[in-house]
Amino acid sequence: GKVRAPTHIISTISDDRGEEPCYAGVPMSSIVEQGYGVGDVISLLWFKRSLPRYCTQFIEICIMLCADHGPCVSGAHNTIVTARAGKDLVSSLVSGLLTIGPRFGGAIDDAARYFKDAYDRGLSPYEFVESMKKKGIRVPGIGHRIKRGDNRDQRVELLQKFARTHFPSVKYMEYAVQVETYTLSKANNLVLNVDGAIGSLFLDLLAGSGMFSKQEIDEIVEIGYLNGLFVLARSIGLIGHTFDQKRLKQPLYRHPWEDVLYTK
Ligand code: ACO
Ligand code: LMR
Repeated sequence: GKVRAPTHIISTISDDRGEEPCYAGVPMSSIVEQGYGVGDVISLLWFKRSLPRYCTQFIEICIMLCADHGPCVSGAHNTIVTARAGKDLVSSLVSGLLTIGPRFGGAIDDAARYFKDAYDRGLSPYEFVESMKKKGIRVPGIGHRIKRGDNRDQRVELLQKFARTHFPSVKYMEYAVQVETYTLSKANNLVLNVDGAIGSLFLDLLAGSGMFSKQEIDEIVEIGYLNGLFVLARSIGLIGHTFDQKRLKQPLYRHPWEDVLYTK
């Protein structure tokens, strides 16, 4: 009989062997002719299915809202310094991307994990926050360097407004808001940040869309797909900062002595 040689790679998201490439079985001609957007392409390549319009719109809003937050944040700063050192686009981009992590932009997956676990176990916001404190873990998705209780992050409010209008349920988001109410009672900087808003709202998207089984939701949360949204989004801004520095012909960056405390 026929013997199938063992393969070295298994791939399930795309296929380039036919006349036109397919994303999760959908041919490129359909993607173009049916007016798919980047949210649809993310749905196909990350989640291996077409999602309802409100979900793909939500994904696109996340991408637009997180594309940039000025030159002073960790990622943009690294990219600017790298571009000014004369490095190429890819080096400048990845230099910025490498700052994305638990403190900056990369708290979305952990926010989803902790909010989901706490909500599903029925913990009150007080029990959740205090149990995190006992473990010495900062609540992912809470806190910001410049946003405050009296100067909320407009991005968070825009995401919440969209979800309240279009999502069938926003139970995880409401839980995150209750957590924020409690943390704000402790300190004015402990707002729900954009990572926390996306993390909690994506749980609502996954659970409320009817497109994912419970097991699939657990897998998405465990693997950690959601920081990918910030990485993808912020790449847009970091590429922009690289071009900006090159266009401005900025010289090599050197940090001023006056801004360093030299001490023994
Ligand atoms: N949970 C519990 N307590 C917190 C949290 C939190 N998430 N964030 C800050 N605090 C507490 C600190 O323990 C500190 O208290 P202490 O002085 O008694 O130790 C106090 O608030 C002030 O902390 P700072 O370190 O001054 O806060 P900072 O402004 O440096 O931190 C940061 C901002 C890094 C965002 C922090 O709030 C944090 O780690 N949050 C969790 C991670 C997160 O969500 N990051 C994403 C931010 S949004 C983005 O990057 C797009
Ligand atoms: C961002 O989007 O980069 C931020 O929320 C972080 C910041 O400090 O502004």
